[in-house]
Order: sequence, then C-alpha cells, then structure tokens
Amino acid sequence: MWWEKKGHLKVNDENHLSIADHDACALAGEYGTPVYVYNKQRIIDNFSAIRNAFRKHTDNFRIHYAMKANSNPEILRILHKQGAYIDAVSPYEAKLAIDSGFPAERIMFTGTSVSNTDLKMLVNDDIFINIDSMSQIKRLRKFAGKGLNVSLRWNPGMGAGHHGHTITAGKHIKFGIPESKLDLAVDEVISAGFNLVGLHQHIGSGWLAEDVPVFLDTVDKTIAAAVKIQDKIGHDLEFIDFGGGPGIPYSADDKEFPLDIYAKGICEKIASSTLKDAQIAIEPGRYIVGDAGVLLLEINTVEEKNVPIIGVDAGFNTLARPSFYGSYHEMIIGNHVLSKNTKEYMIAGNLCESGDVFNENRETLRKLPVPREGDILVILNAGAYGYSMASTYNSRPKPRELLVDEGKVKIIRDVEW
Ligand SMILES: Cc1ncc(COP(=O)(O)O)c(C=O)c1O
Repeated sequence: MWWEKKGHLKVNDENHLSIADHDACALAGEYGTPVYVYNKQRIIDNFSAIRNAFRKHTDNFRIHYAMKANSNPEILRILHKQGAYIDAVSPYEAKLAIDSGFPAERIMFTGTSVSNTDLKMLVNDDIFINIDSMSQIKRLRKFAGKGLNVSLRWNPGMGAGHHGHTITAGKHIKFGIPESKLDLAVDEVISAGFNLVGLHQHIGSGWLAEDVPVFLDTVDKTIAAAVKIQDKIGHDLEFIDFGGGPGIPYSADDKEFPLDIYAKGICEKIASSTLKDAQIAIEPGRYIVGDAGVLLLEINTVEEKNVPIIGVDAGFNTLARPSFYGSYHEMIIGNHVLSKNTKEYMIAGNLCESGDVFNENRETLRKLPVPREGDILVILNAGAYGYSMASTYNSRPKPRELLVDEGKVKIIRDVEW
C-alpha cells in the first residue's frame, strides 16, 4: 500500500494495520475509540529529515515546531529533546511550551489580531514577538520598554496552501504587513525604540512539490526586502524566517515533499545574498507530525439509506479537516486492510450536522471493502491539525491520545470534556 512505511505503518500477518508494530485493532480494543495513536519514532524521523536536509548546506538554521499542528505536551517534550524551537500563535501556546520544557528564548510568537492582554502576557513571559500589524507595534510600546528585540511578519504578495483557508499571503489576506507598508512599519519600530532583528514570511500551509517554485520566489522577495531593511536600519538582521507549510501526501496521487530542493533553495539564496550571516528559521508543523498519527474509530452502523452509509463513533469534533477544508484522508478497515475495495460509502460521523462526514464532501463517496458493524475504521495522516482542532461540540468528549514509545504504549492524554 502506498502509505506503508518501514518501522511505522504496515499490514501484519492477520491482515490488520499495525503502527510501530502494535496492532491497531488491539489498541482500539484495549483503549477504546475514538482514539488518536502517534508513533514517537516517526515524529523524530520526520524532524531529523528536515534537519538533515538543511545540514547539507549550513549549520546556521533553526527549526521552530509549529505547535498548532499538535500541541500534546508529550509531543512537545519529544521535539524539545530533538533541539526544536517553537512557533506559538497564542500566548497560551507559549505557556504550554514553557510548561513542556522549552525555555522562553526558544519560543517565537506570531499572532494575528493580537490583543493588549495577549501582548502583556507575552512581555511578562519574555516571549519573542514577531509583529503582524502596525497597530501591534503601536500598542506594544505601552507594555514593553525600549530596546525590545522584535521581528516583522510581512506579506510577500504570493501564497500557497492545500485550501483557500490555509493560504496566508497574497491578496485578501489578514496576515502580515503588506509590501506597501513595510517601510512605514520599519519606521514605527524604530520610533518605538525597538530593535528590529528579523523578517518573517509564512505563505501558507500544506503545499507540495508543485508549489515549491512559488515558495522560492517568495524567498527571493523576502531576501530582497530584508536587504532593504538592513540598509535602512544600518545593522544586520539576525534571522530570516521562511515560515512553515511543507505538505505531506494524503492520497496515492500526492508526491512526497521535495525536502532537498526546498532546503537547498533557501540556503543557496541566503548564501548568495548580503544576508549570508543571518540565521535561517523555518516553522514546519504538519510535516513533522502529520503522518505520525492515525485516528481509530469503531464502525457502529452499516446500512443502505438513500446512499450506503458507514456510521462511526466520532465526527468533525474529533477530526475537523474533512468537513472544514474538504480534505481527503485515506481510510482503511483496520481489521481487513487488504480486502478489495468493492463498494462506495458515505462515512458518516456522529454529530447532528449533514456536513459531518469523513469523505471530502457528502457527494463524493469512498470505495471501501464491505465492512461489518464492530470493525475498526482507521483514518490515516491524522497527526497534524487533528486533535489540536478538536472540540466538544454536541457535548461529546475529546478523544484519548496514545503514543507508541520504544515498543510501549502510553496514554498521553485521556478523554476530556
Ligand atoms: C505562522 C505560521 N507558521 C507555521 C505554520 C505551520 O504550517 P504547517 O503546519 O503547514 O507547516 C503556520 C500554520 O499555518 C503558521 O500560521
């Protein structure tokens, strides 16, 4: 199967899915469903793959894990041990990172529509602030003394992402300082007495090989903007942050993200610019945790309504991506993985909403083997923007999370209301 990966996902001798050598159906039986299961080694391997791709070109880089993708404290601790930094998008994420072992100096906050309460919390906790708006610079003056190190997030005018909701640069986008205002923003930072040490872009989330050329164009634009800023402020910027966004294959048609082309492109462009001593920062989230997690659900209903229905024991309260973005997630029957896909179904969640299906939409049915009630439905690539977007809608609890760690299975978060 296209999603099988050594040491991670495979089909075992009983025709069951196994994750890090643990039978997914046995885990569902022991810990109940719905349940997220993550493989620690896969998280480490994904992080290492990014690090190694950059190390071929430079040592002057840092990887901020975008914790919005999955902020389970145990996962944060794993990545802290790997030497990650943190990209936090709320002061509460920053606090959670600190509680999970990250020193404040390894955390960068990049927010939007940031309130005064947020700013006060960040300043009190000594969190580095990457500024997103002119308003934020003006209001930050009230809470922070002169000499505060800050960076600016700008909008390089082009974006990419797996869905319109996740494109974060270009026209009609709320994030960052537009090109036409960047000069003014730098003036405002200077007049506030802050010390401008970096420039940041994040063009969107979940883009793949075909978007790398657009991304590299924005890298050029950001480098050119940073050079202009350096000339204006009269000192070198300490870092340039190129944001997150590298995607993962969610279906057999998606190609692996070309990490080498991406890392080489950034590193060579920086090396050939006058910013060559600036540290490169990136902020991947999905790439690190996305394929490291699966969601196990129990099939409770198999029935012909006006379409064939497979009913499961979770909904978009547990995994929002299909309903929210129309995202494709590979689904398999965990206890007969290799059976032939013979029939098309609507995979129906248990919330009172017609849009609560795990198909990309209600009309696009999914071909699967004919299941029995009691079978386990596995949703793959659920490690990123899965639990972290979960809610208690319909007053249903959030699911348990498990980590397979060196052969042992740990509950890393219990069922929560
Ligand atoms: C500022 C910022 N950095 C990084 C990311 C991480 O994106 P991804 O998980 O696609 O790598 C996001 C998510 O959209 C973001 O908003």
